[in-house]
Amino acid sequence: MGALIILAIMSAYLFGSISSAVLVCKLFGLPDPRSAGSNNPGATNVYRIGGKLPAILTLFCDVLKGMIPVWVSYFLGIEPFFLGLIAVSACLGHIFPLYFQFRGGKAVATALGAMFPVAWEMALLLIATWLVVFRVSRVSSLAAIITVALAPFYAYWIKPQYTVPIIMISVLIMWRHQSNIVRLRSGQETRIQRPKSKED
Ligand code: G3P
Repeated sequence: MGALIILAIMSAYLFGSISSAVLVCKLFGLPDPRSAGSNNPGATNVYRIGGKLPAILTLFCDVLKGMIPVWVSYFLGIEPFFLGLIAVSACLGHIFPLYFQFRGGKAVATALGAMFPVAWEMALLLIATWLVVFRVSRVSSLAAIITVALAPFYAYWIKPQYTVPIIMISVLIMWRHQSNIVRLRSGQETRIQRPKSKED
């Protein structure tokens, strides 16, 4: 079992290292998201650069990067604590991608994907939290920061066995949002505009 766990942790990192945002932007002929917009290779920034379709595709692939390694490991009978570490590893791959000069994103979607196979109720609660904050503020980073700040409390309440890895992931994601926190404090964080309605 030990070797299987190590293999699963390493595979999760390698899987997480595939930068969906960079690849999707290449596919759509868009600028590299690491040097455009907020310089973050994530779905929010791909939306800024290229609009809805590339952003949805990026989000979908980033979610899958977290979901697949945890799901496979779960079916292989790996214990909850190690499933948590596998999720952390997929997020580390997204943040420090081996194949993309270690210039990765903030791991919000990847963390969410990793949660689905083992704690889907929590994943839904996190999505609901993100959506409420985003609807009110129109600021993606603020929605992510508030959601990850609440995640350890949700975990303790709904899935206590995952509280430690969820704290680890929340700290990682919070740390990756340093520049957003600075912009939020100075009132300079960008809002995502509402799509124009036909009457506009
Ligand atoms: O999920 C990333 C989001 O929270 C912030 O992205 O591009 O606004 O830094 P961005």
